[in-house]
Amino acid sequence: MEEQELKGARVLVGDANITTVELLEDILSEEGCCVEKVYNGEDALFKARMMLPDIILLDITMPLLDGLEVCQQLRVTSETRLIPVIIITVHRDRENRMKAIKVGADDFLTKPVDKLELVTRVKSLYKRKKYLDDMENVEVVLYSLSSMLDARCPYTANHSQNVSYYSTVLGQRMGLPKKELDAVRRGALLHDIGKIIVSDTALNKPGKLTDREWELMKMHPIKGADLMGNLKNLKDICPIILYHHEKLDGCGYYGLRGDQIPLLARIVAVCDTYDALINDRPYRRSYPVDDALDVLKKSNGHQHWDQEIVEKFTSIAHEVSKPDLLYWPNSSNREGS
Ligand SMILES: [Fe+2]
Ligand SMILES: [Fe+2]
Repeated sequence: MEEQELKGARVLVGDANITTVELLEDILSEEGCCVEKVYNGEDALFKARMMLPDIILLDITMPLLDGLEVCQQLRVTSETRLIPVIIITVHRDRENRMKAIKVGADDFLTKPVDKLELVTRVKSLYKRKKYLDDMENVEVVLYSLSSMLDARCPYTANHSQNVSYYSTVLGQRMGLPKKELDAVRRGALLHDIGKIIVSDTALNKPGKLTDREWELMKMHPIKGADLMGNLKNLKDICPIILYHHEKLDGCGYYGLRGDQIPLLARIVAVCDTYDALINDRPYRRSYPVDDALDVLKKSNGHQHWDQEIVEKFTSIAHEVSKPDLLYWPNSSNREGS
C-alpha cells in the first residue's frame, strides 16, 4: 500500500460527542475511509454486527452501553471478534488502559485526538485487518475442502468438525495456551485432508481394503502434512496431521512411540478415534459413548492412546457428544478414522 493506504476502509465511529465524531469523520474521510457514525453503545454494537467494519473507534463514555462493554461483546461472536477496536478516552490513567486491554481493545487514543496519531494507528490496524482477512479466506477454502472430503462418505459427514470441536474443548480443559488451542482446532479440522488421495470406493468399502487401497490410506497423514506445509501460516498444524494415527506402543502408521508423538497429535488421536467409534462406519455400527470410552481405555490390552488425555476426555465426553444408541460389534479390522 502506498498512497491513500486507507482508501475504502470502512470505519465505525462511536462517540456521544457530536463535535468529536465530526472531527474524526473529517480526518478519516480525507484519508479515503468510508465513515459510519453512532452516538451510543447500543447503536455501536448493532451497527458493528450489521456492517462488519474494518476498524471501530469507540469512546469509553457513551450512553446505554459504554465503549468497553461494546468491545467486550464484539469479542464474543466469531464475526466481530477480529475487528480491530480503538478505545478513545479523555482519561490518561493506567486503570482505563488496563480495562481496555482486558476487554480486548487493540489500541487507545486520548482526547483531544491528534490527527497524525489517529491516522497512523488506524493505518497500522487496517493493514493487520487486511492480512487477517486474507488468512481467513485461505482457511475458509481449506475448511470447505475438508467438509467436501468428509461428505464423500456418508458415514464421515461432519467428522472433521466434530474432531475439531472435541479437541478444542479438551484442550481448553487441559489448560493449553491460546496458540496451541488455535493449532489443535485447525489441525483437527484438517487432519484427514490427505484423504484426497483415497478413492471413494475405498472410503465407502464395507470390508477389508486391498493392499493398494490400504497403502494409499496409510499415506493420507503424509499427504495432508505435505499439502499444509506449503502454507506458511499453517505450518504449526503439520505435526498434528502427520502423527494423528500414531499409537503410544509404536503400532501406529509410522511407528512413533510415547512422547515422540507430539501432545497435540495425541489429543487429536483420542478425539478422532472416539468420533469414529460413536458413528457408523461402512464396516461396523456405532458404539454407545461409554463403550467407545472403554475402547479408548482398554485399547484391546495394548497401550494405544495417552491415558491422561483419555481420562480428561472421559470427563467431557457426554457433554460434547450426540451418541447414536445403536451398537453392533466391530466386524472388521479397519480403523476408519
Ligand atoms: Fe486419519
Ligand atoms: Fe479422522
